Amino acid sequence: MKILCFNGPNLNLLGQRDTSIYGNISLEEIEDLLRKRASELKVDFAFFQSNSEGSLIDTLQNEAPSADAIIINPGALTHYGLSLSDALRDARLPVIEVHLSNIYSREEWRAKSVISPVALGQISGLGWQGYLYAFEHLTEHLRKGA
Ligand code: DQA
Repeated sequence: MKILCFNGPNLNLLGQRDTSIYGNISLEEIEDLLRKRASELKVDFAFFQSNSEGSLIDTLQNEAPSADAIIINPGALTHYGLSLSDALRDARLPVIEVHLSNIYSREEWRAKSVISPVALGQISGLGWQGYLYAFEHLTEHLRKGA
């Protein structure tokens, strides 16, 4: 079983950007926490970040055929990344969309996600723990054969 985790634009700056909204944790620390949980649950795991929608799609197209599920924090692409949304749909894998912040309690434009229609579910506003919950849920979902 293999789970992929994708991160979109500006998430490479976690720990430095808007810490009152996104917290002090860096993306590397989130990756380490997920990697540790993956090894405890005996799940293969790969982690990616790019500031470019095209690179995210290229990686998704290359990696999805050998994977079983996807966690994605698309950053601002959440709100307008139609090519990314199409690529996720084409991957035909269960997807959980994760946001560190609550996208429904911020600016109005953040409340619209073009990713949600292709996702199994969404976790928004639970900080970095949202990634872990998504990972645990997908592992259980895949093990149940749901
Ligand atoms: C985000 C929310 C987005 O609106 C924003 O553009 C981000 C991060 C989050 O994790 O809360 O870059 O996806």
